[in-house]
Amino acid sequence: RLDVTEMFHGIAYPGHLHTQESLQHALKFPFRDTDILIASYPKSGTTWIQEMLSLILNKGDPHLSLTVPNWARAPWLEHYYCASVLEGSSTTPRIVTTHLPHHLLGSALTDSKAKVIYVSRNPKDVLVSFYHFHKMANFLPESGTFPEFVNRFLAGTLHFGSWFDHFKGWTSQMTPMHSRLHMTYEEMSLDLHGAIKKVSSFIQCPLVEDEVNNCVQYCSFSQMKDNVMVNYSLVPDDIMDHNRGRFMRKGQMGDWKNMFTEEQNRYFEQVLKFKMQGCTTENCEKS
Ligand code: PPS
Repeated sequence: RLDVTEMFHGIAYPGHLHTQESLQHALKFPFRDTDILIASYPKSGTTWIQEMLSLILNKGDPHLSLTVPNWARAPWLEHYYCASVLEGSSTTPRIVTTHLPHHLLGSALTDSKAKVIYVSRNPKDVLVSFYHFHKMANFLPESGTFPEFVNRFLAGTLHFGSWFDHFKGWTSQMTPMHSRLHMTYEEMSLDLHGAIKKVSSFIQCPLVEDEVNNCVQYCSFSQMKDNVMVNYSLVPDDIMDHNRGRFMRKGQMGDWKNMFTEEQNRYFEQVLKFKMQGCTTENCEKS
C-alpha cells in the first residue's frame, strides 16, 4: 500500500501505516490517566522525545532502547498496528505517539489526566528535514523541487497537513492544569541535560545525577544515529530507501540556512507572521 494515500478530514496520510479504521480508532482512543502522549508534527524531534522518555522511565538503563524498536515502545496511535502493540504490553505508563492535529485528537483527551508532551521545532528546519525525508521515504509523494516544496509546506498541502494548524492547535492547549508540556527541539539541542531533567520532573520520574547522565549519553545524536532500534535502518529499502538518505540525517539546528534563499526566507517569515496572528506570545516565541 505504498502508493496509497489515506485522506482523513482533509489531511493526507501514508496508506502503508494508516487506514480509515486506524485513524477513526485513534480519535476514540481510550486514554488511561497514566498514559504519556507525545504529539508532534513530523520532523520536529519525535524520535528524540520517544527515546528520552523511554530512557527516563528506565532510569537511564539503555537495555530496552538497544533491543526493542522505538515503534514498539512508543507506537503511533493512528497506525494500524497500534492496538496489537498495546495489547501485548503490560508496562505502565504507556508511551504513545501521534502526528494527528489537536482539532482531531483533542476530544479523546477531554476528561483524561494523560500527560501530553508536545514537541515542536523551528518550522524552517522542519521543512528542510521533511524535504530530505521525502527523498528516501517511498510512502510519501515526490518532493518536487525545493521551491515547490516550500510552497506546499506553506500552503499546508503536504502529508500530515499544515504545520501552522498543528502548532497552533496543540500549543493553545498547553496549560499546566491540563498536565501538558511543550518541549522544543532547540532546547533539547542547547541543553539536553536540562531537557531530560525537565521531562523527568514533568512525568514525576525523578532521576539521580548518574541516571540523567546515562540518558544524555544514550539519547545523544551520535548514539541514536547508530542505534538500529531508533535509526529506522530496520525498515526495508522499498519503504525507506537507505541509499537515498538517512533518517538520522544531520540532527542540527539552523540547517535551513543552507537551503533557503534570502527571498524564500523573507516570504516564509511573512507567511509565518500572518498565520501566527492570534497565537499567544509565549507559544509563538517557541516557534
Ligand atoms: S518523524 O519522522 O516525525 O518521526 O521524525 P522526527 O523524529 O520528528 O524528526 C527527525 C529529525 O530529528 C533529528 N533527530 C535528532 N536530532 C538531534 N539529536 C537527536 N538525538 C536526534 N534524534 C533525531 C533527525 O536527525 C531528524 O532531523 P534532521 O534535521 O533531518 O537531521
